[in-house]
Amino acid sequence: MELLEAIRRRRTTNTPMKVTPLSHEHKRLLIEAAARVPSHFNSQPWRFVVVEDRRQIAHIAQIAGEAMRQLMEEGQFVARYRRYFRFSREESLRTGNGIYIDNVPSVLRPMVQLIFSEQVGSLLSKLGVAAILGNDQRRIVERSGMLLAITLDRQEYRPAELSGLYASITLGAVIQTLWLVTTALDIGMQFISTPLEIPHFKAQLVELLGIPPEYELVAIFRMGYRDPNASRNTIDWTSSQRKPFTELVHYERWGGALPPAFAQAPSLLWADQPELLP
Ligand SMILES: Cc1cc2nc3c(=O)[nH]c(=O)nc-3n(C[C@H](O)[C@H](O)[C@H](O)COP(=O)(O)O)c2cc1C
Repeated sequence: MELLEAIRRRRTTNTPMKVTPLSHEHKRLLIEAAARVPSHFNSQPWRFVVVEDRRQIAHIAQIAGEAMRQLMEEGQFVARYRRYFRFSREESLRTGNGIYIDNVPSVLRPMVQLIFSEQVGSLLSKLGVAAILGNDQRRIVERSGMLLAITLDRQEYRPAELSGLYASITLGAVIQTLWLVTTALDIGMQFISTPLEIPHFKAQLVELLGIPPEYELVAIFRMGYRDPNASRNTIDWTSSQRKPFTELVHYERWGGALPPAFAQAPSLLWADQPELLP
């Protein structure tokens, strides 16, 4: 696949994937491609854990589901991330960012805005929303070909210092490379952040994966060959919208307007395939 095509098509895969293991060649390609990214002084601070054992995946899925349920029930998730939720297509296009909760059971649809408002933990559990999201999370993590944990060397990853920023920059490059390569191979990829948001669930993952103290678990992903017949989560979202490039860039100095020829330059990214436009 061409690079621009992969950039266009890359998306978070928020649906079940095939549980078929990834081929060994594909796994090797992913790790070798990730290892090509730049790092501070070529420090290569990343180490990976590939998880394919079905029981181990099921165990991590159960932890992820439980973490999601707890975050929703205690209201932390909504309180922390409320500002990113969008409740209509119009709102998602107007803001150009956030996640648009577009798939909700019809009985919950009239109160979706209330459900995702702050301080409604008990309401959420009464309505069963926390349980639904927890089940959805467990189900999709279970339906993955493999999980990939990324760790960073703590000698490099010191969050309070500049080296922490440098290690994070390199981590971002690793993740995007993995994402583009999985896209090219028709493999889905999704962050599983919820267990890392609650310290005791993160500790369980560190223990399960046997990560030594010199390494910090910084991200975990699910991956798998795409399943074209996969059904969406009970409560689900999309986030393909992006802010227009003219809103993101200043010219010459902060606040400087773009010259018209630059602002109106044809888009090479979308020119061939306007149907993929976010
Ligand atoms: C640090 C980070 C954490 C994320 N955590 C999650 C997550 O837990 N679950 C999930 O489905 N997506 C997660 N995402 C993916 C974003 O929601 C997604 O990239 C964004 O909505 C844009 O959608 P797209 O990837 O389909 O373009 C995360 C992304 C980043 C960079």
